[in-house]
Amino acid sequence: MVKIAVSGALGRMGTTIGRIVDEAPDLELVGGVDVKEGTLFGTRVVPSTEIDAFLKEKRPDILIDFTVAAAAVENVRAAAGNNVALVVGTTGFSPEQREVIRGAVEGNVPAVISSNFSVGVNIFWKLVREAAHELGDYDIEVTEAHHRYKKDAPSGTAKTILEILDQELGGREKVYGRVGETERKDEIGVHVVRGGDIVGDHSVLFAGNFECIEISHRAYDRAVFAQGAVRAARWVAGREPRIYTMQEVLGL
Ligand SMILES: NC(=O)c1ccc[n+]([C@@H]2O[C@H](COP(=O)([O-])OP(=O)(O)OC[C@H]3O[C@@H](n4cnc5c(N)ncnc54)[C@H](O)[C@@H]3O)[C@@H](O)[C@H]2O)c1
Repeated sequence: MVKIAVSGALGRMGTTIGRIVDEAPDLELVGGVDVKEGTLFGTRVVPSTEIDAFLKEKRPDILIDFTVAAAAVENVRAAAGNNVALVVGTTGFSPEQREVIRGAVEGNVPAVISSNFSVGVNIFWKLVREAAHELGDYDIEVTEAHHRYKKDAPSGTAKTILEILDQELGGREKVYGRVGETERKDEIGVHVVRGGDIVGDHSVLFAGNFECIEISHRAYDRAVFAQGAVRAARWVAGREPRIYTMQEVLGL
């Protein structure tokens, strides 16, 4: 049995992951951490200030983290220090935080880190790369929509889209929303919508003369991310100690 612990255990993603792990015959849910204590499908959730003692006592094979950026950095450090492999879905990291995570992980534990664990989004990113490669002279607009409680903007998934576009097209200027007189040049427009319980919508519009192509993805249930994260957890156990992408997990 592969032992799994969840950080952010009382959050939207944490509870969804807890349910999937609890129902999986090959996985054992050993508990979690969050800001406050609580329970997760019959296991104990302890305050994150106690993460080190929790990892030493429960000895999980993998910690799955869906929290907030600052917390995730600390949880990654604690897991790496206790030889616990990682799956990190938290978004909103600064470049400095990414470096701290890299330093903690590389050479110590294997970790799958992705701004989106859905299979569909990983295919969508591939399609965006292909379209950008072929349609570099089209105008490009990126739009994302999420629920009213999402903390970071643009989404981690949208930032990954922008990284892919940068890799294919060079670092074009980004314009975040447009207002007033705005002459269009070759910038990439980025638009963020927040409202209701939208699970996660992303689209990339390539607009040329006389035609447009739009590539889009819509998630209907956050179980799609949770299932992907659990798939990554099964995959990462026993790998070489470095950072992996979800594309590697899926063999794309
Ligand atoms: N990669 C993906 O596929 C994917 C999918 C959905 C959401 N996300 C990201 O996952 C993160 C969580 O999303 P959510 O919708 O579950 O948010 P949420 O607010 O419902 O849950 C976050 C949880 O983390 C807890 N937390 C905060 N600080 C903590 C700490 N120091 N230690 C432990 N727990 C702590 C909060 O109390 C909360 O319970 C966000 O960054 C979001 O963007 C990623």
